[in-house]
Amino acid sequence: MKTSIAIYPGSFDPVTNGHLDLIERGEKMFDLLIVAVLQNADKEPLFSVTERVEMLREVTKQWQSVEIDVFDGLLVDYARKRGAGVILCGIRAVSDYEYELQMALMNRKLEPRLETVFMLPGLSYSYLSSKLVREIAQLGASLKGLVPELVEQRLRAKVS
Ligand code: PNS
Repeated sequence: MKTSIAIYPGSFDPVTNGHLDLIERGEKMFDLLIVAVLQNADKEPLFSVTERVEMLREVTKQWQSVEIDVFDGLLVDYARKRGAGVILCGIRAVSDYEYELQMALMNRKLEPRLETVFMLPGLSYSYLSSKLVREIAQLGASLKGLVPELVEQRLRAKVS
């Protein structure tokens, strides 16, 4: 499990500019950054995994060392399979910390060789989440600056 390979896991329903900010920062730190979309989560998603992966691939295509993949089951199993030694985790505000800390410590318990790296997105994205983006799109407000243009188009099409 190499510390030069990191996994950035999440639902990405859909990818936001906050996610992209973190991917851009992570891409500079690791030889390979795997953005891993969780499949079969309990929650009812707005976009299918295929749609989410397609959008992620499109908006990250300028970064050669970023790969988009799908995973199922335990994150630690997926990390072992990919040979990744790092989980990248975005912390927007103190409110994120408690849950992310819990997950990081549980992942460490399950796989002690795996390190979690907490990273801060740009301050302007500290209030941004996929959930709010979905809600704003459904209520018809502007998504300018919150998501890439392609995602805004897909959101509009989805909720219209
Ligand atoms: O974007 P999200 O939905 O907040 O991401 C949550 C995610 C995918 C990081 C988390 O649910 C996860 O890692 N799920 C995989 C299952 C797992 O390993 N669970 C134990 C974590 S301690």
